[in-house]
Amino acid sequence: MNGSKNGTVNGGANGYSRNGVQNGGTNGTHSKDEIIEEIITTMNGAPVKKVAGSQRIGNQLRATLLLQDINLLELIQHLTHERIPERLVHARGTGAHGYFEVTDDISDVTSADFLQRVGEKTPLFVRFSTVAGERGSAETVRDTRGFAFKMRTKEGILDWMFLSTPVFPIRDGAKFPSFTHATKRNPRSGLPDHTMFWDYFNNNQEAIHFLMFLFSDRATPVDFQHADCFSINSYRFTKSDGSFVYVKIHVKTNQGVQNFTAAEAQTVAGQDPDHQTRSLFDDLEAGKTPSWDVYAQIIDPKKAATYPINIFDATKTLPFKDFPLRKFGRIVLDRNPDDSFAEVEQSAFSPTNIVPGWALSPDPILQTRSLAYADTQRHRLGVNFIQLPINKPEHSFNPLMRDGAATFRALGATPNYFPSSFTKYPVAAQYAVPDEEHWLGTVVDFESQVVAADFVQARIFWEETLAAEPGQQDNFVNNVAGHLSSAVAEVRTVTYAMFTRVNADLGMRIKTATEAAVAGTITPAKLKITNNFANMKLADLHAKKQAPHDSPHNFDLFAHKAWSLS
Ligand code: HEM
Repeated sequence: MNGSKNGTVNGGANGYSRNGVQNGGTNGTHSKDEIIEEIITTMNGAPVKKVAGSQRIGNQLRATLLLQDINLLELIQHLTHERIPERLVHARGTGAHGYFEVTDDISDVTSADFLQRVGEKTPLFVRFSTVAGERGSAETVRDTRGFAFKMRTKEGILDWMFLSTPVFPIRDGAKFPSFTHATKRNPRSGLPDHTMFWDYFNNNQEAIHFLMFLFSDRATPVDFQHADCFSINSYRFTKSDGSFVYVKIHVKTNQGVQNFTAAEAQTVAGQDPDHQTRSLFDDLEAGKTPSWDVYAQIIDPKKAATYPINIFDATKTLPFKDFPLRKFGRIVLDRNPDDSFAEVEQSAFSPTNIVPGWALSPDPILQTRSLAYADTQRHRLGVNFIQLPINKPEHSFNPLMRDGAATFRALGATPNYFPSSFTKYPVAAQYAVPDEEHWLGTVVDFESQVVAADFVQARIFWEETLAAEPGQQDNFVNNVAGHLSSAVAEVRTVTYAMFTRVNADLGMRIKTATEAAVAGTITPAKLKITNNFANMKLADLHAKKQAPHDSPHNFDLFAHKAWSLS
């Protein structure tokens, strides 16, 4: 019996049970000792006589239905509008609630209020995702994993949107549509297309460092709880005295990193495409509290100005020996969402959701991102997506932004213009002193070039990192070969050359393993299809290739920047 009168069940403080369902079993379904007994209503709240009844002429199955049957009309009309556009990328995901806790003092580099007191906890929601697959796609596939954290600080919502790879494939924002298209489906066949995939990377070899991670077993984590994640982009920790440092964040799992091999990942994808969502949901239902430690790589702006690696190049990492990790927090998850659609699907994250003490940087990928997220969310969720409970900050006030579809906030006669004789809006104290970044220069149409230095960190990853992990070099070669073998021969040849630039032995091993796979697996029918595609694309393949040159680094990326070094 126990049904509440507000349409929810099993009420806790907010009328919901711990998982928003009735004493959920492990898959979130109801248990029989908690029966809802409540009159169903129409949308306007009037009682419905029989929920599954439909008005007919005559008491028989073949009788025609009536347009006046409001309950039936509403039920069907609501159902046909249940789906919303899925995310362009990161469509497949799951979420959880928890908190961020300050473990070590970091107040010397940031004035962020939520980081000022060791031991303070800030409520947090996280959405984990794969990147390329559609909603409902298998989760254990080879891919980067997205970690989007939403922290409800007293000074507004702070979103940290990180990835399980420490580097990104691009450093020119204008390449994002190409990268996204090439790693999704062929526009003609609607199928994943490995020729398209490798053709993109052959022509955008600054992604080589990212590819090394993507084809290692690190890109098939057993679940989200057993993976690390990284901010990749450099952000800024700021202080209210106007000073700042650049910062990269590393989030390290306390469950230990655990990855599937390609074969294991494939088996699990077939047996349980929802494996990662299930693993997280079950762990939280069982009372486990997965956690991650949070570290900062603090980057002094003056050091960054002369450091050989451009800190705004998202294809590079910064060595720990020069920029050590400094622990300052912990993320703990302790609760499943109450409603998957309302919270996970409708959550809207953006790197522009920042709070005083945390700021964007000139990183061009971060700058490109600053326009993308809220824009796509207005399309995906509607103009007032920020008023949805999962996205809403504790406090916000801006009478200049009002109205639009589905407005909940009523500001009445508050002037919707500024300045006004009737309002007084003081400057926020946190920003009282302007920061010290100075810029000057001419506008140029800049596109980064692939240089020899782009292969250095990829080489270290192959020769030192993977070499130190037994079996991982072999797995890497097999992972590439399994994927590359279904690309056309012309594309494969260019890819071998790309891996040879990392390491000659690596290039040779990939070629040998891939051609063996081609000889063993590619059918004549498959070759015909892919060769047609190749004929269309390869005419300009070589013309498009950028001439390699040997500049030691990409410092020119920001040659127009004038630092204030005083
Ligand atoms: C130019 C580069 C990028 C662009 C244009 C871009 C764009 C997008 C878009 C349009 C979405 C879907 C958002 C939504 O529908 O709510 C998304 C999701 C996401 N992006 Fe990016 N992205 C870029 C780079 C990055 C980078 C470098 C990272 C991390 C370091 C990142 C992390 C994420 C995450 C974690 C999500 C999933 C958010 C969620 O769970 O709702 N993105 N991105």
